[in-house]
Amino acid sequence: MTMPTKKGYGPFLPERRIGVLISGRGSNLQSIIDAIDCGQLAATIAVVVSNRADAAGLQRARDAGIEALHLSPRDYPDREAYDRAIAEALQRRGVNLVCLAGFMRLVGRPLLEAFPHHILNIHPSLLPSFPGLEAQRQALEYGVCVTGATVHLVTSELDGGPIILQAAVPVLPGDTVETLSARVLAEEHRLYPDAIRIVLEGLWSVEGRRFVRTVGS
Ligand code: GRF
Repeated sequence: MTMPTKKGYGPFLPERRIGVLISGRGSNLQSIIDAIDCGQLAATIAVVVSNRADAAGLQRARDAGIEALHLSPRDYPDREAYDRAIAEALQRRGVNLVCLAGFMRLVGRPLLEAFPHHILNIHPSLLPSFPGLEAQRQALEYGVCVTGATVHLVTSELDGGPIILQAAVPVLPGDTVETLSARVLAEEHRLYPDAIRIVLEGLWSVEGRRFVRTVGS
């Protein structure tokens, strides 16, 4: 599915209700919770949804007093039905911005159509380099000197939507997947709340494949 070009504005979202989708540890979820708690991000997390019951991020949500919902793909006949169930759960809670934070599933048409231009993802590389799994390992194996993190709008193309913000991270001699991932993750935690703030402020448009901020924002 190609996304329609949207010109002139990103709608200001007065309610600013975020839904966060996770599959695992939830450290990026925590960075969003912390940014809201310290007043750096004016928003509410309405619900956290995980496809896995054992995602540690679900407990982070509960600890922060946020509804934590496990929706198992096994309870639905196919991917479309599962994505529809997620979209409905989010819409019932008044969510108007969806943030993927380590959500290890492809986002299908029902979700994309329910939140056009309003699903974000964070990825641990400087896209378009190293999309998909194990981005930090890919970067090390390729031998790049600089990698990083990217927050982008989600489209039907895996890790391929318009780029909102990026941060560069040097690859150091002797780096392992673990040491590099830790350094990238620190940047992710800084980047994601900033990108969410930019999107919620609404001064942007999508032109072709570019996320364009309105001058002055
Ligand atoms: C992060 O590296 C993120 O970029 C990627 O998955 C990881 C999730 O980590 N999409 P966490 O669950 O937020 O700690």
